[in-house]
Amino acid sequence: MTPQIKANLPKRTVSIIGTGSYVPEKVMTNADLEKMVETNDEWIASRTGIRERRIAAKDEATSDMAAKAALAAMEDAGIKGEEIDLIILATITPDHFMPSTACLVQTKIGAMRAACFDISAACSGFLYAIEIAQQFITSHTYNTILVIGVDKLSSIVNWKDRNTCVLFGDGAGAAILRHRAHGHGVIATRMGSNGNLADLLSVPGGGSACPITAENAHLELNYIKMEGRETFKHAVTNMVESAKQVLDDAGLKSSDLACVIPHQANLRIISAVAERLDVPLERVMVNLDRFGNTSAAAVAIALDEANRTGRMKVGDYVLLVVFGGGMTWASSVIQW
Ligand code: ACO
Repeated sequence: MTPQIKANLPKRTVSIIGTGSYVPEKVMTNADLEKMVETNDEWIASRTGIRERRIAAKDEATSDMAAKAALAAMEDAGIKGEEIDLIILATITPDHFMPSTACLVQTKIGAMRAACFDISAACSGFLYAIEIAQQFITSHTYNTILVIGVDKLSSIVNWKDRNTCVLFGDGAGAAILRHRAHGHGVIATRMGSNGNLADLLSVPGGGSACPITAENAHLELNYIKMEGRETFKHAVTNMVESAKQVLDDAGLKSSDLACVIPHQANLRIISAVAERLDVPLERVMVNLDRFGNTSAAAVAIALDEANRTGRMKVGDYVLLVVFGGGMTWASSVIQW
């Protein structure tokens, strides 16, 4: 199909036709962390809302978790691997720098017709990937797209740093997007970034700017570093602002929302965002008590849980809102 012909075609609606998720078997509780660093269950639960998280096995890579979530989403959507045109995988913990983790997932799920690539937007990655997928479908470039948010943060957490190690967990979430005639779908999305704040949340070493060498390995530069308090403030401000913008774009009020699915970093962030958007907490999806912050996977796992537990009915308006390293943020309004 030539670009000229595509330009003449009407824009298409984009529906999420299936969701899936996967978390590793191993549970790490706050009590387990008490044995590793100077912390306690009361501090972690009251400051973050987290009670336990899942940790991947040593031989369980990001692509393994991603493939399991993808297969669950394909089953939910009732589609086979050959029907997938494109795989977009959001992660900051790829199996390797090369090949992309999306290519490894392609083989594991038998989606050999698909083009594949990874994107990097930290905890915002899943919504960034949803928006990219949406653009490919509305433009008639592809029909069926698999979007995955996945991270194995346990591989880049400093297990001696109590400021960060209590916060994170491993997991994967996936969604299948497709045009559906007369279907409901993604109504509006807003994405934003501020590279001036890059240092607030980063992994300083391991990339081309600072390769880990035998000489500097002891500096522990290949682990997550975070300015928690500053990150907290920017998270609340940007999540609220982008959510208000996207509601405005969609012509909706927060009272129209049946469900809000926020990034699962901290219950205090979620509560502050819900309060400022004037949404009662009963309408907000929270599962960080069981999984911690799983980065790109967090909102995807929560979306799958909301889908499978019937929290969203056909026709409901749902707001997804995320924030992460970069700094990056995004909000989407979906009609389920
Ligand atoms: N156990 C016990 N005490 C601790 C722990 C711990 N695990 N961690 C820190 N403390 C101590 C600190 O040392 C500090 O002690 P001091 O007052 O003697 O110096 C005290 O607790 C308070 O520390 P703060 O960092 O000010 O605590 P705060 O209330 O801000 O909570 C937290 C910290 C939970 C990290 C919070 O700031 C937060 O959630 N920030 C945002 C995280 C986030 O949203 N990340 C975004 C996405 S992540 C991604 O993109 C991968």
